[in-house]
Parts: sequence; structure tokens; C-alpha cells
Amino acid sequence: MRPAFSLHRTVSLVTGAARGIGFATARGLADAGSMVIGADILAKPSELAVEGWLELDVASAEGWRDAMAWIEDRHGRLDCLVNNAGIIRMASIENTTLADFRQMMAVNAESVLLSMQAALPLLKSSGAARHGGSSIVNISSCAGLVGAPFSGGYAASKAAVHLLSRTAAKEFGHLGYPIRVNSVHPNAADSQMADDVREGYRRAGLGTAGGEVKEIGAPIPMGRPGLSDENVGAIIYLCSTASSYVTGTQLIVDGGAMA
Ligand SMILES: NC(=O)c1ccc[n+]([C@@H]2O[C@H](COP(=O)([O-])OP(=O)(O)OC[C@H]3O[C@@H](n4cnc5c(N)ncnc54)[C@H](O)[C@@H]3O)[C@@H](O)[C@H]2O)c1
Repeated sequence: MRPAFSLHRTVSLVTGAARGIGFATARGLADAGSMVIGADILAKPSELAVEGWLELDVASAEGWRDAMAWIEDRHGRLDCLVNNAGIIRMASIENTTLADFRQMMAVNAESVLLSMQAALPLLKSSGAARHGGSSIVNISSCAGLVGAPFSGGYAASKAAVHLLSRTAAKEFGHLGYPIRVNSVHPNAADSQMADDVREGYRRAGLGTAGGEVKEIGAPIPMGRPGLSDENVGAIIYLCSTASSYVTGTQLIVDGGAMA
């Protein structure tokens, strides 16, 4: 791997690392040389080799304070923070309950604010000693850029993640903090969340007699859905010094669907 993409001598935290895109990201960052700490409400999968594991509800401010104290105590630094944990509760606008809407806002969006607030002191001190500074990568969604049917609460929460990221990038730059902030907008058909989306469309009456779900998103120019693993390169790039002059950007990983 070219040195600029290497994550040697860095410490990374990945939330939602028990499965899907978070699992693939934790493994990918470790392969790139980072000391990775995974976090999730679920237990660590036995096949994931990481430096540490935190049982963390990302919607809990107290949980974030404890997590940062643990990382500071064990490692004394944090270079890369990947806010990946997320949930979806599919429903039409008419049928979206306030409880579901608020839960998606709490887990998907409020968590990112709590995370950045809690991690700032460590990210600042670690970023000052690293070319390109430290890096926050917030996992949003294409739904957070253009909306998605039967996913109003989810799309709203991911739009919040997107603009919170851009705002933090500008603000930290103006304040002189050595921290870059970017968002990634994935498309991965091989995760539990992707299954939940297909099930949501089926419940909305968009299933076909053959059990397939009608294509309702934009056509994918590359002609196939993506895999969790295919988001990892984008995240490594944004965590590494290869992206030392990149902040406030939206990296879309969707086979060209949004092109
Ligand atoms: N799969 C896709 O096509 C797709 C598309 C766009 C965006 N995303 C985003 O990518 C991220 C990962 O999605 P995925 O497809 O891997 O989903 P997934 O459901 O497979 O994994 C989500 C992970 O987050 C964890 N999690 C959920 N609530 C949590 C909480 N309160 N605290 C800590 N961990 C929690 C889950 O336990 C799980 O391990 C999400 O933010 C999702 O919105 C996914």
C-alpha cells in the first residue's frame, strides 16, 4: 500500500462494527495498519480481529463519555472516528410514527453530534501531531441527499448527518482545529439494513408475485448493487493522509446511481 494510504500508528473507532459496512470497515482499517476499536450494541463477532471492543449505544451521551475515557486511558489518542451505526424503520409518510421518527433521529443523527462533541479533545491532540490532521467520517446515505420513498424519517436523519458533517468541517477549519470531517453515502445490498429495506418495500405493496421487489431507486449505471466491502476504500482514503486536503465533502459510493 502507498504510504499516504497507510494507517500505521493510528487509532480508529468504528461504530456499528458488529456487521455490514461497519464490520467491513473495521477489518479494512485494521488491514491498513490502524489499531481499531469496534463499538456496537451487539457483541463483537468472533471472526473480527480488532484491538478493542466497546458495547456502546451511540444515542447515549454518557456512553460516549465513557467510551472516550476508555480510549484515552488505553491508547492516549484517536486519529480516525467512523460514525457508522444506524437504523431504519420503513414506513410511508402517512404511517410514520413519531416514536420511530425520533428513534431514527436519535440513533442516526443525534449520535453524530454526541460523538463529535465527546471525541473533540482526543481528535484535536492527535490531529495536531499528524499530517492532514485527524479524520471524522460520518456515514450518511444517498437518501440523505435526495430522499427515498417509505423512508422519510431515515432520509431526514441522514440529511442531518450530511449537513452536520459539512458544518463541522467548516467550523473546525475556521477554529483551526486539526480535524477533517467528511461524509460517505453508500449503497450496499448485502447487509441486514438492505434486507430491512427490501422487507419495507414488500410491506408497502411493492413486492412482485415472484417475491422480488420492484426497482424503485434510480437505475444503477454499473448494473449491479454494491457490497459492504466496496465502501471500505472510500473510508480508508478519508481516514488517511492521502486525503489531507479533503474536508466537507460527500463521497458517494453507489455504482453511479446518483450521477
Ligand atoms: N446498506 C446500505 O445500502 C446503506 C445505504 C446507505 C447508508 N447506509 C448506512 O451505512 C451504515 C451501516 O449500515 P449497514 O447496511 O451496515 O446496516 P446493518 O444494519 O447491517 O448494521 C448496522 C450496525 O449498527 C449497529 N447499531 C444499531 N443501532 C445502534 C446503536 N444505538 N448503538 C450502536 N450500534 C448500533 C447494529 O447493531 C449493526 O451492527 C448505516 O449508518 C446506514 O444508514 C447503508
